[in-house]
Amino acid sequence: TASLLPQDDIEMLIIDNDHAHATISLFGGHVLSFIPKHDNVQRLWLSKEAMLDGLHPIRGGVPICWPWFGAHASESGLASHGYVRTQNWHVVDCADEPEQTVVRLKPSTTQGEGFEGETQLSLVLFIGRELRIQLVTENTGSEPLSYTSALHTYFNIDDINHCELTGLDGDYLDKLQDYQRISTPIPYTFNEETDRVHLVTPESLTIVSGNIKTHIQSNGHDSIVVWNPWADKSKSMQDMEDQGYKNMLCVETAVTQGQQVLPGQSHTLEQVIR
Ligand code: BG6
Repeated sequence: TASLLPQDDIEMLIIDNDHAHATISLFGGHVLSFIPKHDNVQRLWLSKEAMLDGLHPIRGGVPICWPWFGAHASESGLASHGYVRTQNWHVVDCADEPEQTVVRLKPSTTQGEGFEGETQLSLVLFIGRELRIQLVTENTGSEPLSYTSALHTYFNIDDINHCELTGLDGDYLDKLQDYQRISTPIPYTFNEETDRVHLVTPESLTIVSGNIKTHIQSNGHDSIVVWNPWADKSKSMQDMEDQGYKNMLCVETAVTQGQQVLPGQSHTLEQVIR
């Protein structure tokens, strides 16, 4: 079944089928919860202090960063991670298939200050034993366009101090050290604030923490971003409980270097969670 329910100032789309239960906020086109029924383990983390006021970005779930990732390339006054995560999206269609429910959403507009392209943007969610998230950018204009983006997923973990991320190697750019190039630790574990752009495109990653094991597949990306604000930064963030960082790890399927899309063409950024 699919139902729309108001919560605080936001409309939520609830999907419940034989394989999974998922909650999607129409504000931001933002998946907040994904619980596959074969193990009943919540795969996504949502801050207890998340602002569900329909104005501020939501802390947790799967924020859609588009048409830029992080700070805008030239205008520092523009919102971090672009403007569609603070827009109202609508459901274009929602269909039950034997193994999954397929939902397609669109933002109210793709135009905004800081981005020139003429586009159609769709978020397609395949909700079944796994959650497949596709962000499709179609160039409907007559000029080539370039964008950056991320499926900025907050994964639910048991304990950041007992957590390992496998599947990454090579170097990363450390955003906390002026984008210094550093080699990826193996084993990849966490004991401090982490904000890293890995310029590699592994197809498959795994997070293991206590009883929670989550596999992540990515497509159409040029980077994987790994982020945890740790204790001090969490305290300074209004929408993050002080201890919240212990139960989350962001592993983001991202385009950080710029993806060109020619007129009439489209590009799909995809993350699969199981
Ligand atoms: C990460 C960035 O993707 O998102 C970090 O690399 C940033 O630098 C984090 O702090 C959270 O961003 P925001 O805008 O949601 O607070």
